[in-house]
Amino acid sequence: MKKTLMIAAAAAVMMTGIAATEAVASPISKCKACHNATKDKVGPAFAKVVKAYGTPEALAALWDSGFAVADRKVAAEYPKFKKKAKIMTGQYKHLIKGKDHLAIAKALFASVK
Ligand code: HEC
Repeated sequence: MKKTLMIAAAAAVMMTGIAATEAVASPISKCKACHNATKDKVGPAFAKVVKAYGTPEALAALWDSGFAVADRKVAAEYPKFKKKAKIMTGQYKHLIKGKDHLAIAKALFASVK
């Protein structure tokens, strides 16, 4: 049941992605379907990400290196998120890979302050 919901959420995000390609307000606007600054949603609160990585450069470096599950700090700390790593791998390929990694990481950090 949970899995079905997550797949539905991922599909909804992908469809939104197509509809919203012309109105990209922020490099992290689409992330908000699953992430909140301070509360866990489908994915971890961005505050947890900021705490785990410390700097936008460190997070951007992880994306540069291919974002292997074994290298993810939040997933390493929280087993419940590690179980959902595949969802984020799909989002990485769609929304992050090949784009300006540092700009996305900076927007993520800025959203928490
Ligand atoms: C469809 C839902 C979904 C969307 C959209 C999404 N994420 Fe995630 N994200 C997750 C889930 C689930 C996790 C937990 C699994 C993991 O940590 O890999 C996660 C984890 C993360 C992590 C922590 C990785 C770690 O474990 O250290 C970062 C950073 C992140 N997301 C950034 C983003 C950014 C930036 C975007 C938008 C460009 C985004 N996410 C969009 C679901 C999503």
